Amino acid sequence: MVAINKLELVRAAARARERAVAPYSKFKVGAALLTKTGEIISGANVESASYGLTCCAERVALFTALTAGKRNFVAVAVVARTAGGPMPCGACRQLLAEHAPKAKVFVADSGAPNAIKVFSVRELLPAAFVLKP
Ligand code: THU
Repeated sequence: MVAINKLELVRAAARARERAVAPYSKFKVGAALLTKTGEIISGANVESASYGLTCCAERVALFTALTAGKRNFVAVAVVARTAGGPMPCGACRQLLAEHAPKAKVFVADSGAPNAIKVFSVRELLPAAFVLKP
């Protein structure tokens, strides 16, 4: 089990944020996932002229990681230039609850990357919807 370096993960999310495609909102978000084996997979938000098609940074990172076969996420960092850092939206909380339920969620303002808040997925989305076949 890898040691979690939250500052390193926040820095990875901040680097990913630079590749955000956010011409409409101008609100750039980066996310970085850490696996149990120490791999970091990152993503950034991608917007569409059909606004509802926009995908958040957390989901881009998660979909990238999952479709590369990565599992067992121990942490995720989310970074944007906003006071206190960006809180994941409800849709991303649902995806995290399903695919990264044990991950620590680090949130930081890219303008103050050393001030890192931490949450559990459980506290962000208590009583999450799950399908049990
Ligand atoms: N956004 C994210 O990437 N993550 C969040 O948790 C909240 C919002 C993006 C979506 C959109 O591109 C922009 O921020 C403004 O809502």
